[in-house]
Amino acid sequence: MTKYQKIKIDLKSEPKVWLITGVAGFIGSNLLENLLLLDQKIVGLDNFATGHKHNLDEVRELVSDIQWKNFTFIEGDIRDYSTCEKSLDNVDYVLHQAALGSVPRSIVDPITTNAANITGFLNILQASKEAKVKSFTYAASSSTYGDHPGLPKVEEHIGNPLSPYAVTKYVNELYAGVYAKTYGFKSIGLRYFNVFGKRQDPDGAYAAVIPKWTAAMISNQELFINGDGETSRDFCFVENAVQANILAAVADDAGKDHVYNVALCDRTSLNSLFNSLKLALNANDISYDKHAIYRDFRTGDVMHSQADISKAKTKLGFEPKYQIQEGIDKAMPWYINFLGNK
Ligand SMILES: NC(=O)c1ccc[n+]([C@@H]2O[C@H](COP(=O)([O-])OP(=O)(O)OC[C@H]3O[C@@H](n4cnc5c(N)ncnc54)[C@H](O)[C@@H]3O)[C@@H](O)[C@H]2O)c1
Repeated sequence: MTKYQKIKIDLKSEPKVWLITGVAGFIGSNLLENLLLLDQKIVGLDNFATGHKHNLDEVRELVSDIQWKNFTFIEGDIRDYSTCEKSLDNVDYVLHQAALGSVPRSIVDPITTNAANITGFLNILQASKEAKVKSFTYAASSSTYGDHPGLPKVEEHIGNPLSPYAVTKYVNELYAGVYAKTYGFKSIGLRYFNVFGKRQDPDGAYAAVIPKWTAAMISNQELFINGDGETSRDFCFVENAVQANILAAVADDAGKDHVYNVALCDRTSLNSLFNSLKLALNANDISYDKHAIYRDFRTGDVMHSQADISKAKTKLGFEPKYQIQEGIDKAMPWYINFLGNK
């Protein structure tokens, strides 16, 4: 039995109270679904800035009535300290996901990104410390590696940030470190690398590449590759990210006050991703015969990204279960259904 399987059995027999911020978003709603299925009690906080009520409605359909009754939703903003305090009543574990994602969004509007990602982060961190929660896990980002050329990325070696978004995620880590030193409040940052899966929003100017391309392919529209297509990423199926969060939440003291890479230690080029998505659609009887249109590289993007995940494996017991193609195959029917019902 893996450590993750054992932890899930323990949680089921002794349920805990969790706060998930950003619960109506992509990763937050996948955490919600998994934790409700383990009979946990969940408080969810979201202001629907980029999350959706339909994500919560969908989770409601996937759990039992009794499990759904374990969920309390607070519509509110992490930029408001009293809302953060209110959400933390009797909470054991915090999974802080709420933030404004997207490098391009942060370049267009750094002020709003800063408010949600830095002020909001500090509010939740401070309120969690005051509430004496058992653990605090937050969504960090591979963008913190910035212009560091090393591959694969090792937690200790970062470069200069390349976007306002990357600055905000790095500041989160700095605050987390200072809270550990100053107040003894130790947390865990999970540096996600291009997470994908069901409920990742395909709409809007700031959609991530997998949902954006999948939507374009399903509706037989043209799609664009920024650069020559040899840009590569360590795409991580959302169930692997869920596993990392649960392992982090229950980690012992030695595992805390650290940041961990969360991905596969794999590297997929955009050209290869394009083919993988086409294959997954073919398996669902949808064919896409257009060629991708190549255009300029995007400001703030790094050329290659790949995570060294040995630290998460050793200290947390992280064992990513899904490789990229498996993840794509699992996510595809959801996209076909979601886009077909719009
Ligand atoms: N998806 C990825 O590949 C990826 C990669 C690295 C880091 N991250 C981080 O993971 C976290 C979750 O990302 P996601 O992909 O699920 O994005 P998402 O946009 O789907 O989810 C973010 C959620 O936070 C909520 N939110 C934003 N500002 C808020 C505020 N001020 N108050 C309350 N709620 C607020 C949004 O409404 C949304 O539901 C974010 O912190 C993001 O920066 C994601």
